[in-house]
Amino acid sequence: MNSNYKDLFSVDKNLIYLNHAALSPLTRAAHEKMIDLLNKKATAGTYHFDISKLEENFRKAAFDVASFLHAKTAAEIAFPFSTAVGLLQFFSGIPIPENKHEIITTDLEFPTNYFPYLEYAKKHGLKLKVVNHDENGAVPISAFEKMVTDNTFLVAVSHVQFSNGYRVNLKELAQLCHEHGSFLLVDAIQSAGAVPLDVQKYDIDALSAGGYKWLAGPLGTGIFYCKEELIEQLQPPLIGWFSAEDWHNMNTRPFVPAKSARRIQSSFSFHNHALVESIKVFNTIGIKEMWGNLNRNMSFLIDQLNNIDEVSIASPIEKENERSGILRMEFNDPTINVSKIVKRLHEQRIVVAERTGGIRISPHFYNTKDDLGCFVDTLKAMLKSLK
Ligand SMILES: Cc1ncc(COP(=O)(O)O)c(C=O)c1O
Repeated sequence: MNSNYKDLFSVDKNLIYLNHAALSPLTRAAHEKMIDLLNKKATAGTYHFDISKLEENFRKAAFDVASFLHAKTAAEIAFPFSTAVGLLQFFSGIPIPENKHEIITTDLEFPTNYFPYLEYAKKHGLKLKVVNHDENGAVPISAFEKMVTDNTFLVAVSHVQFSNGYRVNLKELAQLCHEHGSFLLVDAIQSAGAVPLDVQKYDIDALSAGGYKWLAGPLGTGIFYCKEELIEQLQPPLIGWFSAEDWHNMNTRPFVPAKSARRIQSSFSFHNHALVESIKVFNTIGIKEMWGNLNRNMSFLIDQLNNIDEVSIASPIEKENERSGILRMEFNDPTINVSKIVKRLHEQRIVVAERTGGIRISPHFYNTKDDLGCFVDTLKAMLKSLK
């Protein structure tokens, strides 16, 4: 492992930062771009901004994201303001075929990947079906097989679950969906930048991922993918000047949506260019190397935690292809105050998160064994002091 990867990030070296599943520090490249863009806007408005380059810059950014996701073409890429916006633009923009009246999701989802379907189903007379996780915290394909039918319009899942890090097999899930003529829409905010992601190989229909977690970009940014064949059918509910094919024309006129996935992008934000700086760094390193490092970090962490009698790992970790950058642990003694432990770790400049009654640890590929060792030693010392 290259121990210098941490130098690519603006992260405070006095922190043991293990909370990338919440917010990631920026790469230096994204940070510098952000400062430059903010300074230019703050001091000179449009002066440094060449609108004639907007299209070209957008295309270049889309190209970098297409390489990152292994999309067929840059026309399949756009930049929503958040995961939620990208998901919404797809599921409520793609027409519901006549015989279809079910949406399927899982009981592990983050509210952003559940509430919108609940409301959409209510509004359109659809049925929301929820696949439950098993005793290991996994939602295997066999569980989806019992739920997906020829009436299923959409299966909407997180690639990686926010609470326990379970990673679903998207290739098998897409195959199941397509056998039933259903769409597969993926929330990739907890996977993009952490684990391998190949939209063509998996054959998923659409994907949305906020840029501020594993992609190490600013808040208010995101990436969106829609399979080329589906773009023409897509009529996103949220449209604006930048969604139009000829966005340069500022007159009111009949709306002609962009031929590309840009039709989901109602407006334009500089901040996505900072996000793309991170993605360029990741393209250079390669996700195989990044996931290799992260996976080694996770294995080390698992081994260390397995040696502590007072804690249990509460993530499905048996199969490597179900793992991610998220690990959940619980205390065996239910009287231990999790919030207090997380607060005390924070006071010692170790950043993890309390989630659903346990501790969620989410290192990135740049973290070192020393970072994880320091977390484990500090935790052990705290547990000892409680005795
Ligand atoms: C799985 C998942 N989806 C969506 C979100 C929120 O995404 P956004 O704020 O980009 O809409 C989160 C945030 O933690 C998440 O974990």
